[in-house]
Amino acid sequence: MRIAKTFLLILCFALLLITGCKKEPTAAENKDVAKWTVGMSQCNLGEPWRVQMNADIKKAADAHSKLKVIFKDAQNDTLKQRSQMEEFINAGVDLIIISPKEAVPLTPVVAQAYAKSIPVIVLDRRVLGNQYTCFIGADNKKIGKAAGKWIAELLGNKGKVVELKGLMTSTPGQDRHTGFRDSIKGSGLEIIFEADMKWLEPNARKEMESALARFGDIDLVYAHNDPGAHGAYLAAKAVERDKDIIFVGIDALPQEGQAYVAQGILSASFEYPTGGKEAIETALKILNGQSVKKEITLDSRVFTKENINKGGEFLSK
Ligand code: FRU
Repeated sequence: MRIAKTFLLILCFALLLITGCKKEPTAAENKDVAKWTVGMSQCNLGEPWRVQMNADIKKAADAHSKLKVIFKDAQNDTLKQRSQMEEFINAGVDLIIISPKEAVPLTPVVAQAYAKSIPVIVLDRRVLGNQYTCFIGADNKKIGKAAGKWIAELLGNKGKVVELKGLMTSTPGQDRHTGFRDSIKGSGLEIIFEADMKWLEPNARKEMESALARFGDIDLVYAHNDPGAHGAYLAAKAVERDKDIIFVGIDALPQEGQAYVAQGILSASFEYPTGGKEAIETALKILNGQSVKKEITLDSRVFTKENINKGGEFLSK
């Protein structure tokens, strides 16, 4: 009996020692005791630019042990994105970051979160109205305008242009279109073909096949993103017309648009930053009770053969 008691005592001491000497939690372990949970609603992960956005968010968030980000991928389905947002609201996350697929159908669910006092950062594509905490993104109208000006100058104010548009129910598609059209108004540029390729390379390739079949003479393709410009290039290459046509895109990821420019596939790519880092910086400010601007506009650069080795050139203010 006595031996058993002593044994028990020793066991208790040993246990105390083990738990008492427990080392400091690592950053990864710390995440389990994170102070704030952020829900990130990504409209799809099928495109390199969105994979990059999530990676930028993760990298910035990983530097803060108080933050835990839960990522959800809506797989390019607006209804799915809406219900994933509802899941975040019902779970009572501390803040939501959303990069919405489309403006109109996702406006109510963003407003719903905002009404429940969950701060919402809208990233890259907009929703309607002002029922959100902060919008972060580059100025798409300005990018469209700059592209139009650059193209008009390159073509000497004349030429036949194909415009491959991003999803026209999303605000970047609308703004890259109107900005471009505004700036080429009055020039001799002629838009001979336009189509909504919904941001997707395979759609752009198909649309370009139609354009190539209909028009023997195409000077330039302006695509609202680099996957679109690359899809058009592939269509032209397949019928050996790639050398006769100039391709211009938007996004300028180092591994995508910038690489295409360096390889001579695209003549220009206009940068569209993901804003992932800025979203986390802003989230932290909000969670710490600091006030933030309603609108954060990110800078954009243009990359061409001439400036690619110098890190591109910022668009003028
Ligand atoms: C990715 C993407 C980018 C584009 C952005 C606009 O889904 O199509 O290529 O710049 O969305 O929201």
